[in-house]
Amino acid sequence: MKNIELKLVFSEYELSELSDDDKNLYARAMDAAKAAYAPYSGFSVGAACLLDNGEIFTANNQENAAYPSGLCAERTLLFFVGANRPDQTIVKLMVVIKSKLKDAKKVYSPCGACRQVMAEYQNRQSHPIQLIFESGENKVLVCNKVDDLLPYIFRF
Ligand code: THU
Repeated sequence: MKNIELKLVFSEYELSELSDDDKNLYARAMDAAKAAYAPYSGFSVGAACLLDNGEIFTANNQENAAYPSGLCAERTLLFFVGANRPDQTIVKLMVVIKSKLKDAKKVYSPCGACRQVMAEYQNRQSHPIQLIFESGENKVLVCNKVDDLLPYIFRF
Protein backbone atom coordinates (compact mmCIF):
# COMPACT_ATOMS: atom_id res chain seq x y z
CA MET A 1 0.00 0.00 0.00
CA LYS A 2 1.11 3.52 -0.63
CA ASN A 3 -0.58 6.83 -0.05
CA ILE A 4 -1.00 9.12 -3.02
CA GLU A 5 -1.13 12.82 -2.28
CA LEU A 6 -2.56 15.09 -4.92
CA LYS A 7 -1.52 18.67 -5.38
CA LEU A 8 -4.38 21.06 -6.14
CA VAL A 9 -3.42 24.62 -6.90
CA PHE A 10 -5.65 27.63 -6.21
CA SER A 11 -4.74 31.30 -6.21
CA GLU A 12 -6.81 33.78 -4.27
CA TYR A 13 -7.17 37.28 -5.66
CA GLU A 14 -8.81 40.43 -4.43
CA LEU A 15 -11.19 41.57 -7.18
CA SER A 16 -9.10 44.73 -7.44
CA GLU A 17 -6.04 42.60 -8.28
CA LEU A 18 -7.63 40.97 -11.33
CA SER A 19 -6.58 41.96 -14.83
CA ASP A 20 -8.92 44.32 -16.67
CA ASP A 21 -10.06 41.38 -18.82
CA ASP A 22 -10.92 39.29 -15.77
CA LYS A 23 -12.66 42.25 -14.12
CA ASN A 24 -14.70 42.58 -17.28
CA LEU A 25 -15.54 38.86 -17.23
CA TYR A 26 -16.59 39.18 -13.57
CA ALA A 27 -18.85 42.13 -14.46
CA ARG A 28 -20.35 40.19 -17.38
CA ALA A 29 -21.07 37.21 -15.11
CA MET A 30 -22.67 39.51 -12.51
CA ASP A 31 -24.78 41.06 -15.21
CA ALA A 32 -25.89 37.63 -16.37
CA ALA A 33 -26.84 36.70 -12.80
CA LYS A 34 -29.38 39.53 -12.84
CA ALA A 35 -31.38 37.63 -15.46
CA ALA A 36 -31.26 34.30 -13.59
CA TYR A 37 -34.61 32.57 -13.20
CA ALA A 38 -34.35 31.50 -9.57
CA PRO A 39 -37.78 32.02 -7.97
CA TYR A 40 -37.51 28.86 -5.86
CA SER A 41 -34.07 29.20 -4.30
CA GLY A 42 -33.66 32.98 -4.55
CA PHE A 43 -30.04 32.19 -5.38
CA SER A 44 -28.99 33.80 -8.65
CA VAL A 45 -25.83 32.53 -10.26
CA GLY A 46 -24.06 34.04 -13.24
CA ALA A 47 -21.43 32.49 -15.46
CA ALA A 48 -19.26 33.97 -18.18
CA CYS A 49 -16.69 32.29 -20.35
CA LEU A 50 -13.98 33.51 -22.64
CA LEU A 51 -13.30 31.62 -25.87
CA ASP A 52 -9.95 31.61 -27.61
CA ASN A 53 -11.37 33.67 -30.47
CA GLY A 54 -12.06 36.41 -27.88
CA GLU A 55 -15.81 35.91 -27.72
CA ILE A 56 -17.50 36.03 -24.33
CA PHE A 57 -20.70 34.16 -23.60
CA THR A 58 -22.78 34.37 -20.45
CA ALA A 59 -25.61 32.46 -18.81
CA ASN A 60 -27.38 31.98 -15.50
CA ASN A 61 -29.31 29.37 -13.55
CA GLN A 62 -32.75 28.42 -14.82
CA GLU A 63 -35.03 26.85 -12.23
CA ASN A 64 -38.26 24.92 -12.63
CA ALA A 65 -41.27 24.08 -10.48
CA ALA A 66 -40.22 20.47 -10.98
CA TYR A 67 -36.95 21.22 -9.20
CA PRO A 68 -34.57 18.71 -10.85
CA SER A 69 -35.59 20.00 -14.26
CA GLY A 70 -33.79 23.28 -13.59
CA LEU A 71 -30.17 23.82 -14.54
CA CYS A 72 -27.14 25.53 -13.02
CA ALA A 73 -25.61 28.59 -14.65
CA GLU A 74 -22.41 26.75 -15.57
CA ARG A 75 -24.13 23.95 -17.46
CA THR A 76 -26.58 26.33 -19.13
CA LEU A 77 -23.53 28.19 -20.41
CA LEU A 78 -21.40 25.20 -21.36
CA PHE A 79 -24.20 23.48 -23.25
CA PHE A 80 -24.94 26.71 -25.12
CA VAL A 81 -21.29 27.09 -26.11
CA GLY A 82 -21.08 23.42 -27.03
CA ALA A 83 -24.15 23.81 -29.22
CA ASN A 84 -23.15 27.08 -30.87
CA ARG A 85 -19.34 27.17 -30.88
CA PRO A 86 -18.41 23.49 -31.01
CA ASP A 87 -15.01 24.19 -32.56
CA GLN A 88 -13.90 26.93 -30.21
CA THR A 89 -11.79 26.45 -27.11
CA ILE A 90 -13.07 27.66 -23.75
CA VAL A 91 -10.15 29.43 -22.10
CA LYS A 92 -11.72 30.46 -18.83
CA LEU A 93 -14.99 30.26 -16.95
CA MET A 94 -16.08 32.70 -14.26
CA VAL A 95 -18.91 31.89 -11.82
CA VAL A 96 -20.46 34.50 -9.53
CA ILE A 97 -23.34 34.75 -7.06
CA LYS A 98 -25.87 37.56 -6.79
CA SER A 99 -28.29 36.91 -3.95
CA LYS A 100 -29.47 38.13 -0.59
CA LEU A 101 -28.58 34.62 0.58
CA LYS A 102 -24.93 35.17 -0.37
CA ASP A 103 -22.67 34.91 2.66
CA ALA A 104 -19.75 37.24 2.10
CA LYS A 105 -17.42 34.91 3.98
CA LYS A 106 -18.14 31.79 1.97
CA VAL A 107 -16.49 30.13 -0.99
CA TYR A 108 -19.03 29.34 -3.72
CA SER A 109 -17.54 26.69 -5.95
CA PRO A 110 -19.35 24.94 -8.80
CA CYS A 111 -21.45 21.89 -7.93
CA GLY A 112 -20.32 18.36 -8.69
CA ALA A 113 -22.52 17.90 -11.74
CA CYS A 114 -21.16 21.10 -13.28
CA ARG A 115 -17.59 20.01 -12.55
CA GLN A 116 -18.26 16.80 -14.44
CA VAL A 117 -19.59 18.70 -17.45
CA MET A 118 -16.63 21.10 -17.31
CA ALA A 119 -14.34 18.06 -17.31
CA GLU A 120 -15.99 16.74 -20.46
CA TYR A 121 -15.53 20.03 -22.30
CA GLN A 122 -11.93 20.34 -21.14
CA ASN A 123 -11.22 16.81 -22.30
CA ARG A 124 -13.00 17.36 -25.61
CA GLN A 125 -10.99 20.48 -26.44
CA SER A 126 -7.68 19.12 -25.08
CA HIS A 127 -7.02 22.47 -23.45
CA PRO A 128 -7.33 23.33 -19.77
CA ILE A 129 -10.19 25.57 -18.67
CA GLN A 130 -9.24 28.12 -16.04
CA LEU A 131 -11.97 28.40 -13.39
CA ILE A 132 -12.65 31.50 -11.33
CA PHE A 133 -15.24 31.54 -8.56
CA GLU A 134 -16.27 33.50 -5.49
CA SER A 135 -14.14 33.26 -2.40
CA GLY A 136 -15.89 35.76 -0.15
CA GLU A 137 -15.26 39.42 0.78
CA ASN A 138 -14.56 40.63 -2.77
CA LYS A 139 -12.17 37.80 -3.49
CA VAL A 140 -12.05 35.02 -6.05
CA LEU A 141 -10.28 31.70 -6.27
CA VAL A 142 -8.58 30.80 -9.51
CA CYS A 143 -7.49 27.35 -10.61
CA ASN A 144 -5.95 26.63 -13.95
CA LYS A 145 -7.68 23.39 -14.80
CA VAL A 146 -10.84 21.47 -13.97
CA ASP A 147 -8.71 18.69 -12.48
CA ASP A 148 -8.05 20.93 -9.46
CA LEU A 149 -11.76 20.83 -8.62
CA LEU A 150 -12.35 17.29 -9.83
CA PRO A 151 -9.32 15.06 -9.25
CA TYR A 152 -9.24 11.69 -10.99
CA ILE A 153 -11.61 12.85 -13.70
CA PHE A 154 -13.60 9.96 -15.14
CA ARG A 155 -12.47 8.93 -18.61
CA PHE A 156 -12.92 5.88 -20.77
N1 THU B 1 -26.48 26.66 -8.86
C1 THU B 1 -25.75 27.04 -9.94
O1 THU B 1 -26.25 27.73 -10.85
N2 THU B 1 -24.46 26.66 -9.99
C2 THU B 1 -23.84 25.88 -9.06
O2 THU B 1 -22.68 25.50 -9.23
C3 THU B 1 -24.55 25.51 -7.85
C4 THU B 1 -25.97 25.89 -7.77
C5 THU B 1 -27.90 27.07 -8.82
C6 THU B 1 -28.86 25.91 -8.92
C7 THU B 1 -30.08 26.47 -8.23
O3 THU B 1 -30.83 27.20 -9.20
C8 THU B 1 -29.53 27.44 -7.22
O4 THU B 1 -28.18 27.68 -7.59
C9 THU B 1 -29.57 26.92 -5.81
O5 THU B 1 -28.98 25.67 -5.71
